[in-house]
Amino acid sequence: MKPKVIMHTQISLDGCIRGFIDTGIYYTIANQFNADMVLFGSKTVCMAAEQYPPETEKAFIKPADMPEDKRSLWVVPDSRGTLRNLHVFRDSEYCKDFIILASASTPKNYIEYLKERNYDFIIAGDDNVDYAKAFEVLYDKYNCRIIRTDSGGELTNVLIKQGLVDEISLIISPCLVGTNTPQLFRSLSIQDKLELKLIGCETVDDNYVSLNYIIPKD
Ligand SMILES: NC(=O)c1ccc[n+]([C@@H]2O[C@H](COP(=O)([O-])OP(=O)(O)OC[C@H]3O[C@@H](n4cnc5c(N)ncnc54)[C@H](OP(=O)(O)O)[C@@H]3O)[C@@H](O)[C@H]2O)c1
Repeated sequence: MKPKVIMHTQISLDGCIRGFIDTGIYYTIANQFNADMVLFGSKTVCMAAEQYPPETEKAFIKPADMPEDKRSLWVVPDSRGTLRNLHVFRDSEYCKDFIILASASTPKNYIEYLKERNYDFIIAGDDNVDYAKAFEVLYDKYNCRIIRTDSGGELTNVLIKQGLVDEISLIISPCLVGTNTPQLFRSLSIQDKLELKLIGCETVDDNYVSLNYIIPKD
């Protein structure tokens, strides 16, 4: 079994992943999904903070797991072992802790980095992360029933291609950004057209549209 996967992204009317004003609407709608965990792309986490203060002793201590703690667990595939900024987000306002998804090819020194700091990690796949396997572990070992994505498209396009996305939530921002900014579905490579079923369409904050589709499974 795997958790329900909800892809949640804000785009401009012309499909760009950046360039619109951050009004907080993304998180207002995200919170409505009641997800147990959030799946971030590693590039998204890498670019998420402007400054990365050095680690302190706290970076090596696993935060206590309190049942009443409503913050999310952040799950991040990082098979190349690129992230060294996890301490900035761990045990912060929105993040309880991390679970890192790695593969058999992940550099050993990165696995050491994770172990020294008591991060949970799952090894799934030989080269890239095998999400189907990793999601099974999230379901069985971590009791994850709903996971929401936070990605600029690279990660979510892979998940769509692999048939792992159940629902797509798009917030359309009232602007056109233009061709210098990446588009959400720029790397979506699928053989056959995917038919979607609209399950929600709502105007939000006067000027935005929230769209919800499910990807029907055969
Ligand atoms: N508009 C929005 O709602 C929104 C939301 C989030 C982020 N963003 C923006 O999006 C940008 C970053 O997004 P992005 O699309 O560049 O990257 P991303 O969403 O962070 O995706 C990168 C992730 O995809 C994984 N991946 C890529 N190819 C894969 C494959 N073949 N198999 C398995 N995993 C694969 C990578 O895993 P490995 O590390 O293991 O290779 C990595 O974790 C930033 O500018 C951020 O601000 C926008």
